[in-house]
Amino acid sequence: MIGCGYVGLVSSACFAEFGAEVTCIDHDKAKIESLKALNMPIYEPGLDSLVSRNLEEGRLVFSSHIERGVREADLVFIAVGTPSRRGDGSADLTYVYEAATQIAKNLEGYTVVVDKSTVPIGTARKVFQLIAETNAAADFDVASNPEFLREGAAISDFMRPDRVVLGVESERAKSLLTELYRPLNLRETPILVTDLESAELIKYASNAFLATKISFINEMSSLCESVNADVHAIAKGMGMDARIGSKFLHPGPGYGGSCFPKDTRALLNTALEYGNELKIVRAAVEANVAHQDKMVAKIRQAVGGSEAGKTLAVLGLTFKPETDDMRESPALKILPQLVQGGANIVAHDPKGLETAKRLLPEEVIYCSVLDNVFQDADAIVILTEWNVYRALNFEKITSQMRGRALIDLRNIYEREAVEKAGFHYYCVGR
Ligand code: UDX
Repeated sequence: MIGCGYVGLVSSACFAEFGAEVTCIDHDKAKIESLKALNMPIYEPGLDSLVSRNLEEGRLVFSSHIERGVREADLVFIAVGTPSRRGDGSADLTYVYEAATQIAKNLEGYTVVVDKSTVPIGTARKVFQLIAETNAAADFDVASNPEFLREGAAISDFMRPDRVVLGVESERAKSLLTELYRPLNLRETPILVTDLESAELIKYASNAFLATKISFINEMSSLCESVNADVHAIAKGMGMDARIGSKFLHPGPGYGGSCFPKDTRALLNTALEYGNELKIVRAAVEANVAHQDKMVAKIRQAVGGSEAGKTLAVLGLTFKPETDDMRESPALKILPQLVQGGANIVAHDPKGLETAKRLLPEEVIYCSVLDNVFQDADAIVILTEWNVYRALNFEKITSQMRGRALIDLRNIYEREAVEKAGFHYYCVGR
């Protein structure tokens, strides 16, 4: 496994748990040393114990040397980062091609080189060419095996996926990959075998569709506010139609994270390269930006029309709960605008504070103890639905606060209960 990021590390630990012998390789020596000492570079529930067990039992090895790991492998996965390029938002494939070149130089015996990173359509074929040009004698196939795991639920998503997608071009590659995923047969996990390009596009199309669902329900939430309807009832009623499905219809402050924003941008770019304009995906992206701006306006309105001089107790900074990941978190779009408008932001997050400090304006004040965040606040703003925020002790909080506004951008509370506790309640689409 080349790359010890989210996908590489989780996949390595899970493949090892399936019984495979995995060498997880990263050029970042410090990261490898800390992994060997069982310090996880990310917070992901259950990951540390899975890594530690498989390390102890010898199926999982961490290394900063690509040579040996690749030489001995039947399958080499490329799971390096594919960040958004500044400017146009297309995927930066520098790390993928670097990995492919290094892999090429060290291949020994028949090997399947598998793209697990989310890469633009056509990348697997380019990886093939690059390896063939770098090492004319190499005996290999390339494959595409996109990963659909969600942060915060990564291990169960990997172990119990809805499907496994394998883009392959030879029976030999297909049989090695299906053998690797054989433990999932027990759960009768569907394995979809396609060509390389289709496998690559399935990943983008899935993420773009899910992002569209979220943007759709977020737009409906605004309409609900205008016509006095309840967006939860809308989502429920829509979700009961099996053709629509009930998942990913929860309104919020807009989607964020390491995948949806980056992958939708990259898909739009790939499409344009081939002369296609994806109007629906573009609208989903634009609606998300507009929705986040609406959230700023909503907060402003809740504190009396201007945030200047107001103190906001912000609960949750990460893009979703159960992760320390701040990548493209709504907090990064919403809070700087409020700081700019003169608000005093005091923020709490169970796991994201360290990263947040590097990314948010320096004026933001952080509280590692939840109880302290409410002191003299004019309003509480819930940005991420961490479990610790689901049962706030309003009686205690009231005595600490100056104002009485609760702005619940994840709709985790019921209006009646909050108003009974003496608060003005603001939420999304209800
Ligand atoms: C996503 C995909 O779900 C996963 O399949 C892919 O491999 C990577 O991208 P992830 O980014 O970890 O996973 O989180 P996800 O749970 O999908 O949430 C993404 C964002 O959408 C979050 O900001 C979340 O709060 C938001 N969201 C999700 C909503 O606002 N409403 C919903 O109903 C679901």
